[in-house]
Amino acid sequence: MRKQIVAGNWKMNNNTLETEALIERLIQHTLPEEVQVMVAPAFTQLSQTVNLLKQQPIMVAAQNMNAADSGAHTGEISASMLKGVGVHTVILGHSERRSLYGETDRLLQAKVSKAIAEELDVIFCFGEELHHRKENKHFDLVKEQLSSALFNLPKATWIQIVLAYEPVWAIGTGETASPEQAQEMHAFIRQLIEDQYDANLANQVAILYGGSVKPSNAKEIFSMQDVDGGLIGGASLNAEDFMAIVNAF
Ligand code: 13P
Repeated sequence: MRKQIVAGNWKMNNNTLETEALIERLIQHTLPEEVQVMVAPAFTQLSQTVNLLKQQPIMVAAQNMNAADSGAHTGEISASMLKGVGVHTVILGHSERRSLYGETDRLLQAKVSKAIAEELDVIFCFGEELHHRKENKHFDLVKEQLSSALFNLPKATWIQIVLAYEPVWAIGTGETASPEQAQEMHAFIRQLIEDQYDANLANQVAILYGGSVKPSNAKEIFSMQDVDGGLIGGASLNAEDFMAIVNAF
């Protein structure tokens, strides 16, 4: 049975006080044992979040990292810095990093390789823009994003990888991919992994869906055979909404 995961990507939200308030509410909820719950605060709140969640079954992920070890990279954060504050998972390839900060498949390949080498787990995000879907190029695009950043990895390292399919047109727009659209893409992704590696690995990799997941639509999306959970933006900023999603399997 694959892992079920719900991860909250807080993006550039939650200062110190807001982080404290949100976590205080989160930890009042009992979590379902079979669901791995994660939150991804901004860099400045990682230490605080790790400390506040120390006794809790909620994991902490970073939203990004640099591929270099150290050096002249003003404003950047390295893998060893993340590990130093007790973070063992990093989100890479988010569409906002790609579209607003110019992150390319090639750069992401370097980041993923570095994270894997540093024994960090990776939540790798990818997904098409609306025009790709309208031109019926969404499968090709997703294949390209996965091949260039991940398909160079040895099979054994995939234990560190979680995939997050996030169609850009559904992020923060209130527009969700239909459960059938999500399922269709997730099944396609699993087939790509089977073709590149084998069926055993394809069946083990957790594939999350992200893009306007809310308490009202989570159950339907999570009920799809190849959807193993969600990467949640807006709704993860509200403890009750986030926990309703965590409990939607
Ligand atoms: P929303 O849930 O706000 O659409 O954001 C999704 C997302 O980008 C998660 O990484």
